[in-house]
Amino acid sequence: MDQARVVVISRAGRASVPDGVLDGLAVRFVQRQEAPDPGTAVVLLRDADVLACTNICLPVLDEVLLQRLPRLRHVVLYATGYEHIDLAVLDRHGVTLSVLPAYATPAVAEHALAMLLSLAARVHLAHDRSRGTVHADTSLRGVELGGRTLGILGTGRIGTRLARLATGIEMHVLGHDVDPMAVARAGRDGIEMVSKDTLLERSDAVALCASNQRGAGPVLDMAAVMALRAGVLVVNIGRPALVDTAAMMVALRAGWVRGYGVDEVVLGSHSPSADLDLLRQGRVLQTGHSAWWRDEVLERGAAMFGAAIVAAAQGCPVDVVRECSRGQDALIGVGT
Ligand SMILES: NC(=O)c1ccc[n+]([C@@H]2O[C@H](COP(=O)([O-])OP(=O)(O)OC[C@H]3O[C@@H](n4cnc5c(N)ncnc54)[C@H](O)[C@@H]3O)[C@@H](O)[C@H]2O)c1
Repeated sequence: MDQARVVVISRAGRASVPDGVLDGLAVRFVQRQEAPDPGTAVVLLRDADVLACTNICLPVLDEVLLQRLPRLRHVVLYATGYEHIDLAVLDRHGVTLSVLPAYATPAVAEHALAMLLSLAARVHLAHDRSRGTVHADTSLRGVELGGRTLGILGTGRIGTRLARLATGIEMHVLGHDVDPMAVARAGRDGIEMVSKDTLLERSDAVALCASNQRGAGPVLDMAAVMALRAGVLVVNIGRPALVDTAAMMVALRAGWVRGYGVDEVVLGSHSPSADLDLLRQGRVLQTGHSAWWRDEVLERGAAMFGAAIVAAAQGCPVDVVRECSRGQDALIGVGT
């Protein structure tokens, strides 16, 4: 049998994997700053059995492209979330998708707690006031988190880790998840699992740690935002689409939500936004998808990326995701 041919597309090129890990494989590294367009992708990948790629460099894996890449069997994605990829299309073309499920878990859970603490203690606003970028009269009055209740929506890897951290600062933790297995696991970890309505009603702070399901609406839609407790703090370390941002801005402006932290740029990224004052006042804290950007995560990610490429090249891909009948995607635990 022919040796599998691997194409790695990333900004870091060879540095995307530790030295020596791919020795013995037929690998071509392509260093790019952005995703190839369909024509370029065909040229780069027509001989590839395995595409290994970072999100930024991932071509759109649609029907048209995959028809032109009949040799392709595996995609290894350097990312945890994959809702932007149509698994049904991959399936029709016999292509598997592997992701890196746990490489950033500790960092992202810590980031969620950091955002919560910042919103509660107004750390970011105090910093801005010391620099004179907000008015000297701006109130820095905050709240304590100890003794309060944190509701975690999505008790997977990051959510359960955040639960342990929050318990360490004496918060009481509630959890909610749509997956019965995640509910059972979190229950065994000592998290009090409740319905979404109960969580929204009882939580002084809410953390969104849910995966974003392809085609699903926001977890915190307008009705859910209105069902939050008055004065609540909300942090979102998942995709911005988990929250109805417009509804959140209305709730912030009304004072119903005290602060919203999101690990993306939701205000001011494209055009001047009507809600930039909320950013200036520190009521929105946005961190631009930086939660995972840590020394340890980069090291762990490179090692896991390398191992996943080797496994795919050997025809035994690990951490493969598939579409399940109940509409939720699932990680098939091969080698996890
Ligand atoms: N900000 C970052 O740098 C960064 C880094 C890694 C991951 N992430 C995001 O974090 C998400 C979670 O990561 P994880 O490793 O914990 O994933 P995970 O799959 O272990 O956990 C996600 C959980 O969310 C649950 N869920 C999905 N939809 C839900 C809903 N509507 N209500 C309640 N629960 C729901 C799932 O059932 C699952 O248990 C990823 O999907 C990704 O979007 C962000």
